[in-house]
Amino acid sequence: MCPYLRENITALEGYIPGEQPRNGAAIKLNTNENPYPPSPRVRKALRKATNRNLRLYPEPLSDSLRALAASAYGVAPENVLAGNGSDELLSILVRCFVGPGDRVAYPVPTYTLYDTLIAIQQGEKVTLDYLPDFSLPEMLYAQQSAVTFVCNPNSPSGTLVGRAELERLARSVAGILVVDEAYIDFAEGEGVSALPLIRDFANLVVLRSFSKSFSLAGLRIGLAFAAEEIIAGMMKVKDSYNLNRLSLVAACAALQDRAWMARNVARIQQSRKQLTKALTKMGFQVYPSQANFVMARRAGQNLKWLYEALRRRGILVRYFDALGLQDSFRISVGTPREVSVLLREIRAIEKEAKDGADKSHGAGPHRP
Ligand SMILES: Cc1ncc(COP(=O)(O)O)c(C=O)c1O
Repeated sequence: MCPYLRENITALEGYIPGEQPRNGAAIKLNTNENPYPPSPRVRKALRKATNRNLRLYPEPLSDSLRALAASAYGVAPENVLAGNGSDELLSILVRCFVGPGDRVAYPVPTYTLYDTLIAIQQGEKVTLDYLPDFSLPEMLYAQQSAVTFVCNPNSPSGTLVGRAELERLARSVAGILVVDEAYIDFAEGEGVSALPLIRDFANLVVLRSFSKSFSLAGLRIGLAFAAEEIIAGMMKVKDSYNLNRLSLVAACAALQDRAWMARNVARIQQSRKQLTKALTKMGFQVYPSQANFVMARRAGQNLKWLYEALRRRGILVRYFDALGLQDSFRISVGTPREVSVLLREIRAIEKEAKDGADKSHGAGPHRP
């Protein structure tokens, strides 16, 4: 133990990211990456930017990206902040709005990084269980918290809360409402994003990520959208050069080819349907997902063995060894081939387990 650390850091467990195998997994469906590559325009822009100018610092405020994002999403550049992944934006937000003892409320289960960031700031987390269908608990509206988080679509459930609920929440909470929309591009239908609401609510922050729909997890790019005053505050807290030169040009190129992103999203939505249908047929409860992953549950059965058996076969899914989630795992939607191999292997593993159980309990002289 290090005696120099702040006590809350010593006590902190630390966020545990999903496994990133060094030699690559055969099939990696554990951290909600996009199975398709980024736009060719991104690769072209990166090649062009990999030159002697790398010796120079990047734009401190990522102004070129802010301008493009503002026009793409119909807001002003002053309403946009670029981050080194939306994780950095979450960290900036918590440092801006949460001091020791301040309350931060959110429905659970959800993205567990919120816990870690609050603990670093010595804030007080107030977690409220989602209703069984993953709608928002009524008590969330009544919380007097410095910050309220809603992950929408939520992870690990993949479920979506409607804009009307978020509007009501923005109106009723005492402090800042952060809507984490890392997965919103995978949601179907119009009017699902809370982004247009930043015009009406001075306490609303909407976060977007380039890691999922734009296939750029490796470059770490996120955007925050909010009223000018909030963005100005967050600017003071961020690192001076928080986006590197290559991430900046990649993000700009990706935003200029949103048709590429939309095409990949459509393919993933199609595979999501097939995966959901097949898992349901195999006896899993699958929550209606609007993200690029699904949560599959077998109520009351611990699924760690199945997760481990898949892992031994080179297939990674995400298992959360936490209370209330041990009978579930979260599966990122891969290519049609990855989805079919996954399903084939689950069937094979379950058949083996069943055959083994039949043998050991089977009729015969040894049966007790
Ligand atoms: C709900 C949620 N928010 C934010 C993030 C972070 O995304 P980024 O890669 O943009 O930091 C993730 C990453 O998995 C996530 O699941």
